[in-house]
Parts: sequence; structure tokens; C-alpha cells
Amino acid sequence: KTKTTPAQALLAWYDRHRRVLPWRAPAGRRADPYHVWLSEIMLQQTTVQAVASYYRKFLDRWPTVESLAAAPLDEVLAAWAGLGYYARARNLHKCAVVVTHERGGKFPETAAELKTLPGIGSYTAGAIAAIAFDQPEAAMDANAERVVARLFAMDEPLPGGKPRLLAQGRTLVPQKRAGDFAQAMMDLGSAICTVKRPACGNCPLAEGCVARANGIAETLPVKTPK
Ligand code: ADE
Repeated sequence: KTKTTPAQALLAWYDRHRRVLPWRAPAGRRADPYHVWLSEIMLQQTTVQAVASYYRKFLDRWPTVESLAAAPLDEVLAAWAGLGYYARARNLHKCAVVVTHERGGKFPETAAELKTLPGIGSYTAGAIAAIAFDQPEAAMDANAERVVARLFAMDEPLPGGKPRLLAQGRTLVPQKRAGDFAQAMMDLGSAICTVKRPACGNCPLAEGCVARANGIAETLPVKTPK
């Protein structure tokens, strides 16, 4: 019998501890790309807690990407009020227009194509490709970066060390269930592999975690002083 990979251990943990969030499909189902995209744009600089009510409000009012594209920009900006970073709302509307009118209402399925759309950078492209289409892409937000930095004890200061972190993160992504894997990394980072006092005793990746073995988990990742 072969050894359990980190992805297998993490997915088994996710099956037991997965957070129920408004934009997540029920276990075993794939979420609607429009829902994934909308939530990922909202989550870019805003907490899960703050996003939830806005996410529901937007979906009630604009249930499809076509309906959002048809909305006047000022109504979208007004509904966004309170989330901050208004460039996100402008790009949200612009992206809805492009997807509706240039792509027949369908989001592209690859990270490379997603990245060409307004407001979608490499993190968001990876997240949508993985979560909506199960493409084996990494979605490295700050939580996932911390997990990877600790697992491999990578001490190159951020942000300079990000490309290496991303490369290591990619090596962990499974060929199947990439969307669950991406969200499991986020959940692990927010619930277990926390900035302060990580709960290594409850971590499904503890066995292979180099930082934990060296007693330096809490010191990682290192940040370049401002
Ligand atoms: N942060 C960004 N995307 C997220 C997601 N899909 N689930 C939980 N937290 C997130």
C-alpha cells in the first residue's frame, strides 16, 4: 500500500470539517461558475463573514451573469457600497458584460483564459478554474500560502518568496477534486494552520509538516519588514 499524499489527507479532513458557505455547492457537486466568480471577486480583499450577506443580496437581485450585465453600473456600485475597493465593482460589471456578450454567457474553463477577463488575476483565475471546473490549478490566497510555507519550511520572505511558494503549492494539487482541495487549503489555513498558535495537534498534514517537526510553524511565513 502506498503512502497517503498530503492532498488525500487534506481531502479526507475536508470531507469531515468542510465549512458550509453560501457560495459552496453541496458535497460532491460543482458550484455554478457565476457563483464562484462572484464570491471570489467579493472575497479578494474582504472577509468571509463580511462577504456572505452581500453575496446573497447580489444573487437575489442578479441571479445570472446576463442579468448583472444588463444592470446599470450605478446600481451595481450602489449594491457594492460597504465592500470597498470600488474598482472591483466596476470590473465585476465589465466582466459580466464581456462574458454575456462575447462568450455567450459562459465563463471560460481554463485559468489562462479566465485571466484575460476584467478583474481576474492569477489567484482568482486559479480559484475559479479549480472550484467551478475542477481544473488542477492552485488557488494560493494568504491562508494557502501559510500552509505551504509551513509544510515545506520555506523561509524566503514574502512577497519575494511568492513565486516559489506557488510552485510548491502546485506540486500538491491533485488531478481529481482540485476545487475541494483549493477550498480545503483555505479552510485549513483559517481553522487550524492559523497565524498565531496553530493547532498542529488537529492538523491532517502534521505528519509531513517540516515546520512543525522543527518547531518553527508559528514563525512562518516570514514577511519582509515594511
Ligand atoms: N477565500 C477566498 N475564496 C474562498 C472560498 N472559496 N472559501 C473560503 N474562503 C475563501
